[in-house]
Amino acid sequence: MEGTREQLEMFENGEYSSYEALMDSYASQFAELIAPKGETTFGFWMQTLADAAFLDLELRGLTERYTIDPVDRSVQFEGDEACLRNRVAHLEKVKGVPTLYSDWVDAFDDTNAYAFHNLYPYKGKFYPRIVRTLINAFQLQGDALILDPFNGSGTTTHEASLMGIQSVGIDITPIGTMIATLKNELLFAPVSQLQLTRADLLEILHAIRAGKWEYPDPILHKLMLLLYFDTADAFERTSRYSRKGEEGLFIEKFRYIATCLEKTIEVRERHQLVFKPAQIFQGDALKLDEHSEFAGKFDACITSPPYYFSIDYVGKDRIAYEYLGIEMPTIESNYLGMKGDNSGVASMNGLPRKVVMYYEDLRKSIQLIYWALRSGGKLAIIVGDSTVNGKKIPTTLKTKEFCEEAGFIYDGIIFNPLLGARNRAIRGESVILYSKPS
Ligand SMILES: C[S@@+](CC[C@H](N)C(=O)[O-])C[C@H]1O[C@@H](n2cnc3c(N)ncnc32)[C@H](O)[C@@H]1O
Repeated sequence: MEGTREQLEMFENGEYSSYEALMDSYASQFAELIAPKGETTFGFWMQTLADAAFLDLELRGLTERYTIDPVDRSVQFEGDEACLRNRVAHLEKVKGVPTLYSDWVDAFDDTNAYAFHNLYPYKGKFYPRIVRTLINAFQLQGDALILDPFNGSGTTTHEASLMGIQSVGIDITPIGTMIATLKNELLFAPVSQLQLTRADLLEILHAIRAGKWEYPDPILHKLMLLLYFDTADAFERTSRYSRKGEEGLFIEKFRYIATCLEKTIEVRERHQLVFKPAQIFQGDALKLDEHSEFAGKFDACITSPPYYFSIDYVGKDRIAYEYLGIEMPTIESNYLGMKGDNSGVASMNGLPRKVVMYYEDLRKSIQLIYWALRSGGKLAIIVGDSTVNGKKIPTTLKTKEFCEEAGFIYDGIIFNPLLGARNRAIRGESVILYSKPS
């Protein structure tokens, strides 16, 4: 470690570099140690064993033959080079040329917050990179149709749109539906739609605070409300932004979204991408069969039902619901596992009644997903075990039981640790793969 030795010698001679210089020297040495070698190379965002498993999964869908060299962080493959470069989510370069995904990452300086994925900090949203990987693994093309019956803030539908694939997203909450719809609309907006001055924005903020915000343009109507909810929530949780003030933070958040629009259009034009709109609506996953047109219609379902927690899911968006005059108990009463009275439900293997009810709903939603998929259709269901009052809630195994009971054929599982997760009740999640028999 040349640099390190140099620093030690300097120290012994009574000198020492600035911490900035030390950090730079460490960073370049480290980069050299792990720098990929070859023409088709890992992205720097590939850091865990789960990432290696996801790369393996998507290469199965995107190439004819491949080998992964984890030491050199590179791949050898046979197959359609241009297709791999356009779709893969874990490689930085294919035959020496940067992938579309690495262009997204570079443009937004983030591996998951590209396009409008970072529009709003929705609770329990998942990583767009995983959705992209699953779409690749399932070999879905431009004529495919994807379903997410627990679409939340619309990560599945947004990523499908970016990849030029149509999708349907359903969620029980008005806020999730609003976010997913807005992401969908922003993809097709011109830059001029978000050209507002500071004075315009302040006027809008005052109208919102006075409860008088109504705007004919549906994008601006929703965007301003969501930015306001996000700003007000930030002020309620922390004093970190007090110097900026509510106005300053609101304007900053707006400018961020306007920049996202510019960057998204740049990437779209550079790669001549054709985005496809998603169909988003508010609805109950347990009533999917009320839409008879959905029977056997979908090529794939990529979804994540709500995890079982003892914490308040809907309460996270309290400010928004209060502002919109929506009763939270009404929403909660349709939430998976939270329907009405549970006194008639027997406890199962010592699990609390509430958990048993949650499992009953989970079982039913899986049966309905089966019903909505075509023969040979694919399911990726992302679930996590949680620990509530010291007791493990074994959702992963229960999901397996329900999928098999519904008729699905098991294709595999990848455990994805949530390394930086703040909530210690959940340590990771599992992506479980199934097919409906042909
Ligand atoms: C883990 S989150 C999914 C988040 C989503 N993948 C995203 O990226 O934003 C689970 C979602 O299921 C929704 N949900 C709960 N009960 C539902 C029901 N009965 N029907 C439809 N959606 C429901 C919740 O509102 C929540 O958005």
